[in-house]
Amino acid sequence: MAQTAQLILDDKTFELPVIEGTEGEKAIDISKLRDQTGYVTLDIGYKNTGATKSAITFLDGEQGILKYRGYPIEQLAEKSSFIEVAYLLIYGELPTADQLKAFQYELSRHTLVHEDMKKFFDGFPSKSHPMGQLSSLVSALSAFYPESLKPSQTNEELNQSIIKMVAKMATVVSWIYKKSLGHPVIYPQNKYDYVTNFLNMTFGQRTEDVTIDPVVIDAMNKLLILHADHEQNCSASTVRIVGSSDSNIYASVSAGISALWGPLHGGANQAVIEMLEKIKEDGGDTDKWIAKAKDKNDPFRLMGFGHRVYKNFDPRAKIIKKACDDILEKLGINDEVLEIAKRLEEVALKDPYFVERKLYPNVDFYSGIIYRALGFPTDMFTVLFALGRLPGWIAQWKEMKENKEPIGRPRQIYVGATDKDYVDIANR
Ligand code: ACO
Repeated sequence: MAQTAQLILDDKTFELPVIEGTEGEKAIDISKLRDQTGYVTLDIGYKNTGATKSAITFLDGEQGILKYRGYPIEQLAEKSSFIEVAYLLIYGELPTADQLKAFQYELSRHTLVHEDMKKFFDGFPSKSHPMGQLSSLVSALSAFYPESLKPSQTNEELNQSIIKMVAKMATVVSWIYKKSLGHPVIYPQNKYDYVTNFLNMTFGQRTEDVTIDPVVIDAMNKLLILHADHEQNCSASTVRIVGSSDSNIYASVSAGISALWGPLHGGANQAVIEMLEKIKEDGGDTDKWIAKAKDKNDPFRLMGFGHRVYKNFDPRAKIIKKACDDILEKLGINDEVLEIAKRLEEVALKDPYFVERKLYPNVDFYSGIIYRALGFPTDMFTVLFALGRLPGWIAQWKEMKENKEPIGRPRQIYVGATDKDYVDIANR
């Protein structure tokens, strides 16, 4: 017999269905609660609320498990490429060799952005934050590809919008970087795969291609894979909720970019490096900064530590820490902030404050150190996170549409003033 939960309210008992996911996660289905009881639930920050049923990503924060479409993140990070993982997330299965070739071909045919888009790039002050630029530019793409505005696209039209979104994102991101330097942009070239093309557009010069070190290509693939999806986080939920009003793919992704920007979410990778630099300049006394993080009267938090869902080691952080060591060694880079990061981690992992609160390094604790070693400036880090997260956002958006989910519209408990009469301004 199907399991139910009983809710007793005002001497009446209500039976609520219990549903179970494929990994044994259980939920009490309250979708009819208000109709049946007149009550709503209150869960500020959605800490206990499942907003959807999803078949994309599974994570178990207690055990430190992360899988995309059933595949462990460790295997994907080691064996796969970013574009293969993008296919997996968006279409649900690992591609065959022919499917992957066709996907790459389709992507390479759409990497150019409309020439008029360049005027937007020119309009931004060179020092404006790349995340603000990215969210505006992605939203602006909708103006050039108006077919994406149709709320009910055919499968083929929807797929074309997805391909364009993925293909153009790498071009937009690299052009933001080139514009920040005041350098001419580099156009995409069909002979390169997605990640190499991105790196060439970012680090290439106008007249000649650069030979991108395979170590760099490999590291970039790994970082993008590790960031590719993370189920219903702040930005993915934003993308789904914006898309649920039938907003187009560019508007939905642009909203996700804005959600990612904050230092409590994707902006943490920039915040981590800034924090490590500050500690370095201050003499590298990690104990002092750990004490500051523990002091409730001090607003300082150890950036890159803690996670809403992981109450065990973030599996991505383990992979990134190892990759960080490998890459810096292969590139022959000696970065003092890496040593500070390792000292902070060592101290924090033994400190009762962090142990009791289950605060472990998250994905962003080491990613910034790798991005820096690859040659990216600090304010580009969150943009790189967005590039990696794009397939996840698209998969979430597509799933939401395929499931025909209703428009997202939470309830609230009103706690404001009641029944006031308007007072003329002269009498206030
Ligand atoms: N440094 C010091 N103390 C911390 C930290 C930290 N980084 N993170 C949490 N705590 C403490 C809180 O002060 C709180 O202590 P209390 O119980 O004594 O009040 C307790 O741990 C629980 O913290 P909450 O903020 O309630 O946890 P929540 O799940 O809401 O927040 C978050 C998670 C936002 C990630 C938080 O840990 C944080 O701010 N971390 C630093 C920012 C960061 O690295 N963000 C990136 C997350 S990963 C990502 O988005 C890709």
